[in-house]
Amino acid sequence: MKRFSVPGYALALGSTGSLVACGPAAVATPMSWPTASSPAALTDAALEAKVAERLASLGLEQKVGQTIQAEIGTIRPEDLAEWPLGSILIGGNGGPDGQERAPAAAWAALSDRYQSAVTGGIPLLIGVDAVHGHNNVVGAVIFPHNIGLGAAREPDLAARIATATAEEVAATGMNWTFAPTVTVPQDLRWGRTYEGWGSSPALVASYAGPVVRAIQGELVPGQPLAPGRIAATAKHFLGDGGTRGGRDQGDTRLTEQQLIDLHAQGYLAAIDAGALTVMASFSSWNGKKMHGNQGLLTDVLKGRLGFRGLVVGDWNGHEQLPGCTAGRCPSAINAGIDMYMAPTAWKALFTHLVEEVRSGEVPMARLDDAVTRILRVKAKLGLLDGARPTVDLSRVGAPEHRALGREAVRKSLVLLKNDGVLPVAPSARVLLVGSAADEIALACGGWTLSWQGDGNTNADFPNGQSIAAGLAERIATLDRSPDGTFTVRPDLAVVVFGEPPYAEGKGDLRSLHYAPAESRQALERLQAAGIPTVSVFLSGRPREVDAELAASNAFVAAWWPGTEGGGVVDVLLGDTDFQGRLPFAWPAADGTVRFPLDHGLRY
Ligand code: BGC
Ligand code: BGC
Repeated sequence: MKRFSVPGYALALGSTGSLVACGPAAVATPMSWPTASSPAALTDAALEAKVAERLASLGLEQKVGQTIQAEIGTIRPEDLAEWPLGSILIGGNGGPDGQERAPAAAWAALSDRYQSAVTGGIPLLIGVDAVHGHNNVVGAVIFPHNIGLGAAREPDLAARIATATAEEVAATGMNWTFAPTVTVPQDLRWGRTYEGWGSSPALVASYAGPVVRAIQGELVPGQPLAPGRIAATAKHFLGDGGTRGGRDQGDTRLTEQQLIDLHAQGYLAAIDAGALTVMASFSSWNGKKMHGNQGLLTDVLKGRLGFRGLVVGDWNGHEQLPGCTAGRCPSAINAGIDMYMAPTAWKALFTHLVEEVRSGEVPMARLDDAVTRILRVKAKLGLLDGARPTVDLSRVGAPEHRALGREAVRKSLVLLKNDGVLPVAPSARVLLVGSAADEIALACGGWTLSWQGDGNTNADFPNGQSIAAGLAERIATLDRSPDGTFTVRPDLAVVVFGEPPYAEGKGDLRSLHYAPAESRQALERLQAAGIPTVSVFLSGRPREVDAELAASNAFVAAWWPGTEGGGVVDVLLGDTDFQGRLPFAWPAADGTVRFPLDHGLRY
């Protein structure tokens, strides 16, 4: 077979010269991309001199160590003496001393143990998925997931949340968040849809810049980030939201122009705003895994898009490249990954990378460039001058962060239907149906204390309020019913239901149809009895709920609002009007659109 390409297309000819395959190529042409640029304040002369001097002082092992990130579950602080790694990460699972649900003090002590174990070396980047608040920490405010913030159509609100979250992260001694996710999900079946602000590239781009600036502050030449600011990550580069069938870690089959127009817009804004790091995507572009795509990682991202920060891999993402294992993968760094996220096999990776540089399989110049980028980020965090975040546990779950959470909940709700039953009068006799309204975990979704957001009880949210508790505060006569039956006839019923928490692949779906019968049956029984019904749907994405909509007098898409359930009540009672508009089109049973993008009613 003979293969060749014309711009944007890969062609293959069989032995007779006939066309046997034709598809979009996985080879980037950087000149066809728009331009962007990391701010000059990331590479000012004084900083570059400091970085170069530090680089020159490092031996081969120390350089290699900088490019490897281990996970807290597999590395002890004392291991750092023998293995001088550049970074550690906190995965979605696990915690200080194996404690999955740990308070801020235990996390701060953990950060301190690792950082203090680095003697004479270069302080660590400590990375964590603070994607809707500092969500691994008991007591932190859990904000609405990005889908809800996108619904609010208020980039400044997302920015204020990003600043509050950065402050909570820094307050526990960490200096790097794997956020924001600037993905542009195109298929609601993808289990990570809720991590994106919406399906529109322009919407995502309008949030990316302000949020990056809010996490890091504006970069200032010659100065480290201000206290309470940390490194941001634009992720996952590139095309994570475009995979076929919405399959997690799947293949995004698009022309280069489509890739640019749909999936790259958030990166342009994030880079211009000074994002210090970018995370590579697990996914592929036209069959080629992103972790090995030199054209996109190096020629486009670091070349055309002028990105001067560091590119981190995703969780063992390198092992999916042809010829690679978790503990050995020269092609990832050669393609442009600067730091391996190596939660399990960091020792083997270290040993192999030392050999690969010695043999020339990984050029010394490539290693030096990777380490330079890592040191640049560390310099910008003040780490090369020994700065440490100021630990202040009172910032975690601070009252003003809770108030901000409640404001965000109010603004994120989308009213899909209302025949006049809303707003609810505080004097009404309200029947609260089902148990979902009681469970804070169901309002938080994935990436909450545990990776999948499972296993959490209300006791794990000491600074949280359930929707039921919020309602009980405001409604004088609130009756409870698990299944919608009642003894005293209510004026109306509020039925809270939706998707249980999930993250990554576990949330992938084949069909968007919402199947659980209990909520639908309760709604239909109430409807038959002539009781007006208000549905509050908790979910990580739109689902096909035609039957539930038909049986509801009002229907609110509440997304995964987080720990401030009272914010839902504020709007149901009409203290404020709805602000949210759909960040994704809402599907109907026949595969058509039930409510278009931007739909959202007002009182
Ligand atoms: C996810 C990333 C996350 C990383 C660290 C990966 O599985 O794709 O978004 O930052 O794990 O938890
Ligand atoms: C996640 C991690 C998580 C791990 C569990 C990864 O894909 O991103 O954060 O803890 O899987 O195995």
